[in-house]
Formats: sequence, structure tokens, C-alpha cells
Amino acid sequence: MEPMFDVAEIRAQFPILKELVHGKPLVYFDNGATSQKPRRVIKAESAYYATINANVHRGVHTLSTKATEAQEAAREAIRNHINAKHAHEVIFTSGTTAGINLAATSLGQLLLKPGDEVVISGMEHHSNIVPWQLACERHGATLKVIPITESGEWDVVIPALSRNRATPAQGRNDIFNERTRILAISHVSNTLGTINPVKQLIAEAKKHGTVTVVDGAQAIAHLDVDVQDLGCDFYAFSGHKVYGPTGIGVLYGREELLERMPPWQGGGEMIDTVTLEKSTWAKLPFKFEAGTPHIAGIIGLGEAVRWMEDYDKSAMAKHEHALLQHATKKLLTIDGLRIIGTAKEKVGVVSFVIEGVHHYDLGTLLDQQGIAVRTGHHCTQPLMERFGISGTTRASFACFNTIEEIDVMITAAKKAVKMLR
Ligand code: ALA
Repeated sequence: MEPMFDVAEIRAQFPILKELVHGKPLVYFDNGATSQKPRRVIKAESAYYATINANVHRGVHTLSTKATEAQEAAREAIRNHINAKHAHEVIFTSGTTAGINLAATSLGQLLLKPGDEVVISGMEHHSNIVPWQLACERHGATLKVIPITESGEWDVVIPALSRNRATPAQGRNDIFNERTRILAISHVSNTLGTINPVKQLIAEAKKHGTVTVVDGAQAIAHLDVDVQDLGCDFYAFSGHKVYGPTGIGVLYGREELLERMPPWQGGGEMIDTVTLEKSTWAKLPFKFEAGTPHIAGIIGLGEAVRWMEDYDKSAMAKHEHALLQHATKKLLTIDGLRIIGTAKEKVGVVSFVIEGVHHYDLGTLLDQQGIAVRTGHHCTQPLMERFGISGTTRASFACFNTIEEIDVMITAAKKAVKMLR
């Protein structure tokens, strides 16, 4: 039997979807930047402040115990959601950016020597480029980049990757060698929507002893992420892109590596003992969680993943895929429109350029009709350079979006194009 997915029931849980923008019903297609939050998440955060607000892992009093229990229950919910082996492999950070910076700083110190190599791809978000540039500069290592095909896929020759591609790979087959220490790649491209075959590339990396870091910011709300099945060493994501709060994120790390890595920030809670001469570190995960954490955010993120677990993930993915297909088909009816990112495997993200129309102007006119899209380079300037463009208009869908909303966007876009040309 086909799994049921009741989008009206889902929509009813998002208070913001009742808002009007410029007098029009909000059509929110900027989920790649941040997703909206269901009532359960908003309530969980505010209940923490209203009923159990206290610092965690510090007091013997009742409120501190309750706050600690709520935080650690959230850690366990997240462990379960991504199928990590241990809850202490779930490190709380302020978001994907902080998670990747933690990995780059600490792994850099542990692994990188002059002449070593770090591999990224040409479709990375700036937050999965710059931390590695900094780490390479610090340790005299070299950054190598997997090129991107015209369809927006890795241009890399790996036998297991040759199926399921929109264009055949022409490019590199020399990614890994005995100096490749780290591979850092996105699971899903924020600009193109491409679902990258990370599992296959990780398997190749492992043959060379390369440590693997996955930027999961754009995957976590759309794919069934199983870190053990992917075989990655690290997986970073943000709460706010998975129906949770801003300012909270996760770096999953494999226990054995986390144990060997040095801490990246010093302070309270991450120590075992401190003397004025020397300190020793707390056990995992606290070694990497200096200072008071974003407790309300952690509790909110725990609720967000529990909320997602209440739904049939494959039905959700199927709904989002239908949105992608409909949007792609309808957008292509606009004269002079080109979609940037035509990979076979995509999440519900459509980036496009229209001849004679600047993306900022289009975004502004769409906003006048209550439609929120993102415009610009999407923090992927090297990718823009690859496609010879300055930016795109990007519609990024979530499970609460509808086919009717896409039709509203298409009508508004056609009207805007007429005005702008
Ligand atoms: N990285 C986020 C985006 O793609 C902000 O919009």
C-alpha cells in the first residue's frame, strides 16, 4: 500500500504558515536557508525556559537535574535519528559551520603535516571550503578540489559512481594517494540540490586511510541519514534546517577518532582536572562542549527529530520529490529560463537563471506576492564561477509545501518576467 502523507495535517502544525506577507498568504520556499518550525518544537523550547531552566551537568538541585535529563534525552533522540553507535558521538555545536570548524581545527592538528592533502569538491558551501583552507595554511597541506560537471555532479571517475549520473564523468581519477588525509564533502548541494554519492566515495577514501567529513546541512531534513551505513567518520548538520531551532547543531564523530583528537575550545565542562600548569580533558562528548551549551536549542532539536520520526520518511521524501518534479517542469515553461543543477538524484531544490532578468529583481517581485525564495551566490562563489554566473534564484522545498504553492510561484514569476524584460 502507498504510504499516506497528509500535507494539510502537516501544515496545520506550522503556525507561521498562517502569516500574510504583503497581504498575501506566505509561500515559503527558502527552506535551504532555514526551515520553519512545528508548534511542538516551539513549545519544547519555551517549556524549558518556563519550567526547568537551569544549567546542565553542574548542580545537584532539581531543576538542574531535570534540564540535564532533558538535554541528554535529546542527545539520545538525535543518536537514534542518525543511527550513531553511541550517544557520546553526538557533539553539540552552534551549527554546521561550527561543526566543520571543529573538525578542521582538531583533525588538522592531529593529522596534517606539510605536503599532505585535503580533498573537497567544487560545489561546497563556503563553510566547507574556508575551514579547510585555514587548516591547510596552518599545517602546510594542499587543498585538492573535485571538479563539477555541467549537470552539477562530481566529475570523478570511480567505478561505483558511473551509474545514476546525468552526464558521464570525464574528470579526475587521481583524487586519493598516500598523502590524502581528509575528504570533506557535502551530502547534498545547497545550491544545486544534487544528492552526492557520498557512501561510494567514502568507501574509496577508506581504501587510502583517508578520514571523511560530511557536510549534511542540506541532507538532514530530506534524506534518511544513517552515519554507520554511510561509513563516514564525521557528519555535521544544523538544527534550524531540520525543523529545529537556530544556534544549535551537531557534529557526529566516530568514537575512536574523537578520543584521539585534541579539544578545539577550552573552558568549563570540557575538563577533568585543571591546575595552573596543566589540564586534562573530560570524557566524550564533553571534551568538545566547552561552556554552557544552548540547552533550549538542544531540547528543541531533540523535539524536531522526534517530530520527524513520527512520519513515514519515505512518504515525506516522495512528496518532496513530486514538488521538485512539478517545479522543474513548470519552470521550464518560462521563456529563457535555465536550471542550474540537473543531476539525476536531487532533493527539492531548484536553482535557475532567466535571460534578461536579474535574480535580485525577481526575488524582490516574488516577495511582493508573498513568496520567499533565496537569491544570490548561496555562499558558493566557486560554484557560480564554474557555471559562469553571478547568482541564481533558488526555491527550496520542505515537507509542508504544496503543488498549489508552486503554481502560485510560477504565475508570479511569469508576471515578474514580463515586467522586468
Ligand atoms: N547555507 C544556507 C543556504 O544555502 C544559508 O541558504
